[in-house]
Amino acid sequence: MGYLKSVKISTDTFSKTQTDLFAVGVFEDLKLSVIGKEADKYINGQISAAIANGDIKGKSNEASLLYGQKKKILVVGLGDKKKFNEEAIRLAGGTVLKTAISKKLKTIAMELFGGKKATSFNQALAEGIILGSYQFITYKTQDKDLFEVDSASVLNADSKALEEGSIIASGVCFARDMENDPGNVTTPTKLAKFAKDIAKEGGMKLTVFDREKFTAMGMGAFAGVASGTGEPPKFILLEYNGGKTDDKPIALVGKGLTFDSGGISIKPSASMDEMKFDMCGGGLVLGVMKAVAQLKPKVNIVAAIPATENLSGKKAYKPGDILTAYNGKTIEVLNTDAEGRLILADALAYVSKHFKPQYMLDFATLTGAVVVALGHVSTGIMGTDAKLIGKVKKSSKITGEKVWELPLWDEYCEQIKSDIADIKNVGAARQAGTIAAGAFLKEFVGEGIPWVHFDIAGTAYNNKESSLTYKKGASGAIIRLVLNMIQR
Ligand code: BES
Ligand code: ZN
Ligand code: ZN
Repeated sequence: MGYLKSVKISTDTFSKTQTDLFAVGVFEDLKLSVIGKEADKYINGQISAAIANGDIKGKSNEASLLYGQKKKILVVGLGDKKKFNEEAIRLAGGTVLKTAISKKLKTIAMELFGGKKATSFNQALAEGIILGSYQFITYKTQDKDLFEVDSASVLNADSKALEEGSIIASGVCFARDMENDPGNVTTPTKLAKFAKDIAKEGGMKLTVFDREKFTAMGMGAFAGVASGTGEPPKFILLEYNGGKTDDKPIALVGKGLTFDSGGISIKPSASMDEMKFDMCGGGLVLGVMKAVAQLKPKVNIVAAIPATENLSGKKAYKPGDILTAYNGKTIEVLNTDAEGRLILADALAYVSKHFKPQYMLDFATLTGAVVVALGHVSTGIMGTDAKLIGKVKKSSKITGEKVWELPLWDEYCEQIKSDIADIKNVGAARQAGTIAAGAFLKEFVGEGIPWVHFDIAGTAYNNKESSLTYKKGASGAIIRLVLNMIQR
């Protein structure tokens, strides 16, 4: 388990609702909603008393638990009424779930906060509820304090929007689970198995190339990275056809590095465990496809995930090696820890050649430099097409997943030229590392295909809990953004 799978609509009135916890919202203007007033009456004016006393201020993230005879009442702060948007209602939903878990309350009901009837608000509330319910507890066998919520419902809501929000957030939680699972559990073989399950559920076509096959096909960069591990690497390809036969597909490519030790250019030991998260780009793509299997949008999508470990076994590739990628370009390897761009190179070239997509997006925990530049707040993006970047930014506003564009100017593209091969896998030392990686990937995107690269190294996992995330672990960031792009 670990998270709620769906949020239900309820047609009961406040007084008829049988629940352990009932949540109402209040803005900073401190005016109670119709249901808020009923709840206040039910607990003999405790809400108005707390407001009069200044204990309830209506600030976002505020949660005040009050006690009634049968049900407890939670008053959630909604912030400034004028600034109330999808992200604000999403956060409020998450806050309700966090409170319910910490107070061990099994059943939850709430009003539609702010009375916002728009589909996007209903959807966002369901997302917040499910994301807030997420806990990674698979390996806790002795903890008697573990507690999960049984059900959540929203009064007078839009049931279709709640369902969509539930599917989308379940896709995020599905990805979080596979990303939080360690490298000895989430192997390339396991990723291929998840892809197989999704293909079955959504009527998609699955193709998996193993080491022998993709090496023979000419994916020399991917094969080079995979040569240092005995864990079987996989090139995973999922095709979903919800559009017309001749509609060009949307292409999604994700870095599925199930453990990155750095290889021969080995990483320091401190925090190396976090490199189990180096498959979050691949997890993101599978999270999107899991939701697509249920949402069934009327578009065609192709998803590609090159999956391998980066280790230093006896056949490992070495600094100085020259690899030939799927599109024939030669790459001088100057650092085996810059492996993500190598495995993506072959995937981008393969998808460009065989699918000629209408546009291509790739996702990767690609550089430590993006964490230096943007911290854990925003995903770094760059690309070749202003219109497509505009589309990304527009979806980002709706889903609350921040992105920030970095420039892919020619000066940066010069920095990856090699003296002895076509390009090298590192840029100028300690300069613009995230852009150098983007400039490298650009070499493998087919002519004329609009493309955006997402560097999620800072946002794919977090070290602090929030209303929508659980402790230290995978966030599932950008899955909702991509689904929004596909659906818009
Ligand atoms: N997986 C790492 C990037 C990374 C770093 C992700 C920190 C999450 C947190 C990637 O494969 C890598 O090691 N990149 C190198 C590139 C360098 C050698 C040019 C880096 O960023 O140091
Ligand atoms: Zn690396
Ligand atoms: Zn890596």
